[in-house]
Amino acid sequence: MSEPDFAHNHVIAERLNLANGSGRIILVTGGFGFIGKHFIRRCLEAGHHIINVDRVNYAADRLVRAEFAKHPNYRVQEQDIAALDHLSECDVIVNFAAESHVDNSISDNTKFCLSNILGVQRLLELVRVKQPADRPRFIHISTDEVYGEALDGPHHETSILRPSNPYSATKAAADMLVMSWARTYHLDCNIVRPTNNYGPHQYPEKLIPKSCARLKRGRPALLHGNGSYVRCWLHVEDTVDAVLTVIEKGAANTIYNAGGVDYLQNIEIVRRLAQIIGVPETKAFGFTEDRLGQDRRYSIDSARLNALGWRPKRSFDKEIESIVEQSEFQRFL
Ligand SMILES: NC(=O)c1ccc[n+]([C@@H]2O[C@H](COP(=O)([O-])OP(=O)(O)OC[C@H]3O[C@@H](n4cnc5c(N)ncnc54)[C@H](O)[C@@H]3O)[C@@H](O)[C@H]2O)c1
Repeated sequence: MSEPDFAHNHVIAERLNLANGSGRIILVTGGFGFIGKHFIRRCLEAGHHIINVDRVNYAADRLVRAEFAKHPNYRVQEQDIAALDHLSECDVIVNFAAESHVDNSISDNTKFCLSNILGVQRLLELVRVKQPADRPRFIHISTDEVYGEALDGPHHETSILRPSNPYSATKAAADMLVMSWARTYHLDCNIVRPTNNYGPHQYPEKLIPKSCARLKRGRPALLHGNGSYVRCWLHVEDTVDAVLTVIEKGAANTIYNAGGVDYLQNIEIVRRLAQIIGVPETKAFGFTEDRLGQDRRYSIDSARLNALGWRPKRSFDKEIESIVEQSEFQRFL
């Protein structure tokens, strides 16, 4: 195994076998959000116990709250991670909780600093004060956006972080906290950096669900600039696979990129959605001012995670139709 990225291996980490319903206790933060809820559903199906810490912001899924509440292995703490004063017994923490929308961070970044930086600091502190043998592993969900735009080839886990907007800056800051706590206090951590996620039941502020919600209501989808920006798309279930792979096989204190295979311009995405919904192109697009600090293209190299056996299994072309059909903004009203 290669050297860890951000700390010496003081910790002989116990890799967790999650595959056979061994009843692990997994503390998930942000589990009412888009990626967190798909992760929780999969873990419950596999027989694990879930503690979901979520402060239930606007992006929390109302229907999924009712769905999970019926499950005997599920417990929820409706709390802000930045104010958490007790960490329940658990084997692993998976930290999805974050303010996640770049446009919101450009108009008001305070909440981003509180949740995405101080929230992570609080979680790390709660792990640190436990006896070493009682400490859970800490899996932090970061983003490819911490590297900034990639115009000359993909970013690797060791690439310099050059975040372009307040959202990605707070995510990069959190990554730094994780790395330094791991090194100073000998915690067992991983950082996972996925690309743009798509899938069923995402809050309608992100490109795909927002465009669906507008096109279905007879309004044009809104595109920043001329819509030429390229994002690399990863199905949310492939992200869940990536996180599970890191929990089971990841080396301690190592970063893993998790990139999709579908590189698409924003305008191509909207064109596809309009075709599926049956809106003519002449009525599909509305162009808005460029996003401040806009990144033109993201791209990451996932060879390290591929070496653990992970590959994206879903393709945008095959999945998008059913995602459009299932998109219902009402679940967030
Ligand atoms: N969605 C993507 O395309 C994408 C891509 C790469 C990385 N990520 C990262 O993955 C994680 C999950 O993203 P998502 O799209 O599911 O986000 P989301 O906005 O859909 O959900 C976030 C959830 O976290 C909760 N939350 C926010 N602040 C909190 C706090 N202080 N305490 C407790 N709960 C809090 C919210 O109530 C919500 O349920 C984030 O860390 C994000 O940065 C997302």
